[in-house]
Amino acid sequence: MTSLARTLLPEHQTEQEALSAFNVEKVRSEFPILAQKVRGKSLVYLDNAATSQKPRVVIDALSRYYEQGNANIHRGVHFLSEHATAAHDAARTIVQKHLNASDRKEIIFVRGTTEAINLVAQTYGRAHVGAGDEVLITAMEHHSNIVPWQLLCEEKRAKLRVVPMNDRGELLLDEYEKLLSGCTKIVAVSHVSNALGTVNPLREMIEIAHSRGVPVVVDGAQAVPHLQVDVQDLDCDFFAFSGHKVYGPTGIGVLYGKAALLEAMPPYQGGGDMISSVTFEKTTYNKLPHRFEAGTPDVAGAIGLGAAIEYVDRLGMENIAAHEHELLSYATERVSELSGVRLVGTAQQKAGVLSFVLDGVHPHDIGTILDQQGIAIRTGHHCAQPIMERFGIAATARASFGLYNTKEEVDALTEGIQKVREVFA
Ligand SMILES: Cc1ncc(COP(=O)(O)O)c(C=O)c1O
Repeated sequence: MTSLARTLLPEHQTEQEALSAFNVEKVRSEFPILAQKVRGKSLVYLDNAATSQKPRVVIDALSRYYEQGNANIHRGVHFLSEHATAAHDAARTIVQKHLNASDRKEIIFVRGTTEAINLVAQTYGRAHVGAGDEVLITAMEHHSNIVPWQLLCEEKRAKLRVVPMNDRGELLLDEYEKLLSGCTKIVAVSHVSNALGTVNPLREMIEIAHSRGVPVVVDGAQAVPHLQVDVQDLDCDFFAFSGHKVYGPTGIGVLYGKAALLEAMPPYQGGGDMISSVTFEKTTYNKLPHRFEAGTPDVAGAIGLGAAIEYVDRLGMENIAAHEHELLSYATERVSELSGVRLVGTAQQKAGVLSFVLDGVHPHDIGTILDQQGIAIRTGHHCAQPIMERFGIAATARASFGLYNTKEEVDALTEGIQKVREVFA
């Protein structure tokens, strides 16, 4: 077991105890979609990095809300509006506790990771980045942690700098230190890479950035489903994630920001709920978190996200991490045994993702042949084209794991890849 996975376990719990605390067959029975056949075969869903499936408790929370509790929030004095407002508030508290944020007002509901990062770029970024300044990202970012910063840099005539990585897909920390210059105004980095699975040494990176007075924005889209995230322990300034990747609904996500930074930021979108008072001469803005939540929010989505977070909390992130760690180790071993396979992303610390290429076969063909066997993986550049360029490839095939996957499904994947090889022999 890696030191990372080890640190995810509470001190009193051994890896064996964590694994035996986790009953994957019971977990699977809680996800209705997993019981279905796809193309006449049992569904093997290994596209969790794109989006995860939803447990019954999340589906029920959504339908219960629409069947019994639907109303607009913050605006009504009637029973349903009060009930919906309370449920929305409760969801915020669940997220706050899960991330160990120090205050509910530090949790901003947004559409997802993409919107969260754009929010920071367009508010904090526009206020703090000027001509000649630099924004530092890394070579393994998803497009949604590249393009918002590019847009900002273009507008402000600032420069986007990029921390390189080695052939295993690990960031070069000495280069990172060198690139952090007096001009750096923001560091933006993914916690876990969606294309490589690398878990970045965030605490260390944040400490280094802070020692130079630079705030750090974390793209946590691929971290929250697999790791226990503690924003106070990380000491990150902003942290973004999407509900749909952590077994919640689409259309809802979270931006965590340190209160002092959020308080000082200009508003993002204007509209209802984000104001305190409006006249044609002057508008004053609402307090946090509402200042950054203009308009009717995704009430159902927030409630569904709350149900999803409660679900993973009940299972225990340490148990989930131990289960997934064992699964990823097994998959890495089995898939790399196959001849003609090359893994892309072999960092020491990984979570959730196994990317690979197969000699002489386009990843798209791998995906299509696996699909005929009911196995769902993702093929392509995974919205991370610079990573593909770094490794000199156009695309990879990516199997990504969730808490309900099993070793039998890994076996199905390896048999499926064997079939691909036979077809192309
Ligand atoms: C690392 C990473 N960042 C950002 C995103 C964007 O997330 P969303 O499309 O939910 O906004 C993704 C989605 O795949 C991702 O994997």
